[in-house]
Amino acid sequence: MKKKLLGAVLSVAMVATLLAGCGGTAATTEAPAAPAATEEAAPAATEEAAPAAEETAEEAPAAPAGGMKVGVAMPTKDLQRWNQDGSNMEEQLKAAGYEVDLQYASNDVQTQVSQIENMINNGCGVLVIASIEGDSLGTVLATAKEKNIPVIAYDRLIMNTDAVSYYATFDNYMVGTKQGEYIRDQLKLDTEAGPFNLEITTGDPGDNNARYFYQGAIDVLQPYIDEGKLVVKSGQIDFDTVATASWSSENAQSRAENIVSSTYADGSNIDAWLCSNDSTAQGVVAALDANYNGEWPIITGQDCDVVSVQNMIAGKQSMSIFKDTRTLASQVVKMVGQILSGETVDVNDTKTYDNGTGVIPSYLCEPVFADINNYKELLIDSGYYTEDDLK
Ligand code: GAL
Repeated sequence: MKKKLLGAVLSVAMVATLLAGCGGTAATTEAPAAPAATEEAAPAATEEAAPAAEETAEEAPAAPAGGMKVGVAMPTKDLQRWNQDGSNMEEQLKAAGYEVDLQYASNDVQTQVSQIENMINNGCGVLVIASIEGDSLGTVLATAKEKNIPVIAYDRLIMNTDAVSYYATFDNYMVGTKQGEYIRDQLKLDTEAGPFNLEITTGDPGDNNARYFYQGAIDVLQPYIDEGKLVVKSGQIDFDTVATASWSSENAQSRAENIVSSTYADGSNIDAWLCSNDSTAQGVVAALDANYNGEWPIITGQDCDVVSVQNMIAGKQSMSIFKDTRTLASQVVKMVGQILSGETVDVNDTKTYDNGTGVIPSYLCEPVFADINNYKELLIDSGYYTEDDLK
């Protein structure tokens, strides 16, 4: 997979995001310079000569959704969250009166490209895409742009194409920050002498989010590594070395098994294992279950997948990050409606996410810390899961 993203400006830009906050006080911006969206605004107007964007914005009727088809491209059914994202999107779009073409691509880039081609050819008026590999959609999205079909990048930014109109996600750097802070606080790195052993497992290098998660955590932990209080005993610390292709549990497990059976063969403890999400945490837990006899480490995660919440209850995963896919879906459905009716689109970040062609106006939802103490309130009381789901 291709390496991507992020220059040295990442941390600075991300701090700006953190300061700006997310969720609550959404700033709205005008739709950026005539996105394809506004030109194709009202379904009824698509056959007519495209008016200037500003005119469209003024004259567009209030969200005439009837009959408009929205293409929703999801990466895979293998990971729980994308199933929830897809069904939430489908349900909420249908409730708003849209037709929906929802497709999953089995983590295969070419399949996703073909699905998007079909969506374009079958008359989708807006595309909502959670990409498999952020860099691989340029060609197909050039066609979308030619046909004035607006594109919303869903959760993962689509890179190096100017066909992306908007981006909606959770604050990815903040996810990493929360994971890093959790390790810092649990190990009491500011007061304890250490040294503590740390290992790191992050996500797919083709997913733009993975570097944000990694960087958010590393920015918290690096000072302690520099000080020698935290020791990455395997020596495996740079992003490419700790990445996990396809975010696969199996890939995470086999790398973790190698580390346990080599670096920790001397019986030393692993004090913390930074995992960027739940599927990788599950792989690490499986490796430790099979091969590790030391004290159980602190293990981070993200997504509150059922298996990981069960692992939290069993004491095998310490925390996760709850990203309520209902919230993201409802934000995206709102943005679809605003685009199609030529209204100002609700975004709250216009600085952070440069996809290589410029900053993509974004809406960042707030990721929430979850552990054994608050999972019931977050996940069960909110109706995300039932008690039975977690048994
Ligand atoms: C990321 C996403 C995470 C996690 C991961 C694996 O892009 O933001 O929530 O699910 O992919 O699918």
